[in-house]
Amino acid sequence: MGACRGFIRLVGLLFCVGGFAMQAQAEGNAEAGRYVFQSDCMFCHQDVEHPDEEQIRIRAGLDLRGIFGSESAIGLGIMDEKRLIQWISKPRDLKPDTQMIRLPLTDQQVVDVVAYLKTIPAPHEGEGMSKAPLQSRRCHACHDFRPDGKTKVGPPLYGVFGRAPSIQGVPFTVWDADTLDRWLTSPASVKPGTKMRFEGFKEAADRSAVIEYLKSLHD
Ligand code: HEC
Ligand code: HEC
Repeated sequence: MGACRGFIRLVGLLFCVGGFAMQAQAEGNAEAGRYVFQSDCMFCHQDVEHPDEEQIRIRAGLDLRGIFGSESAIGLGIMDEKRLIQWISKPRDLKPDTQMIRLPLTDQQVVDVVAYLKTIPAPHEGEGMSKAPLQSRRCHACHDFRPDGKTKVGPPLYGVFGRAPSIQGVPFTVWDADTLDRWLTSPASVKPGTKMRFEGFKEAADRSAVIEYLKSLHD
């Protein structure tokens, strides 16, 4: 009997300690999160405090400025605290084919990095990222936009506007405003079985923003 009561007390204590731990976690420490971000996230995501064009072209991940509380650029919905924690802890649970890897972070580090992202405001229109429109964030995971860009998942895109396709199987002789528009509406409709796993932009405005940007990338 006594041992049993002791056990119940122990379970109660564990709940209590667990509860405290969860409360402490829910707080999140932005300063600690900053360190996590710089050491673990900037391998792929650009520096959210000092962004520049070069970084935006190199890094695979998206620009995360202003992500807290905003609409995800990759269809994950509104990135509130809960969604961000879920995504950072287990990206594949939300998007099975994502290229974002699951990092070996503690729960506390995850809430800390979310607290940090909360402190980072969205850029003003045109600020920091110069010509690159937000929509082109979607391309960087797979394409290099630099003049001497390398092949990543897909071919480099500097100078693509006005040149012939480097890929096989598209019924076009040149990438211009019209053919790029068709490609970016639905790559798989233009080339069934294409390796460009991108569902396409439904909005014409999104396509033209990216096409204008591609047009600007030439010598
Ligand atoms: C190995 C590269 C890599 C690392 C490391 C990485 N990410 Fe990502 N992240 C990505 C990629 C690629 C995407 C886009 C995923 C997709 O399109 O499926 C992404 C997407 C995201 C998104 C979604 C943005 C949106 O608009 O919905 C968030 C938030 C995010 N990452 C946060 C983080 C945080 C915080 C860290 C560090 C703890 C981190 N990432 C580490 C590559 C990475
Ligand atoms: C998930 C990876 C992925 C994403 C995201 C992606 N692409 Fe691609 N892209 C590819 C691959 C792979 C190819 C080659 C396709 C093939 O050979 O069928 C390609 C081919 C292309 C080509 C043809 C290039 C040439 O030299 O002929 C263009 C143009 C292009 N992508 C533009 C874009 C733009 C703009 C975006 C962003 C809106 C984007 N892609 C997003 C993977 C991707």
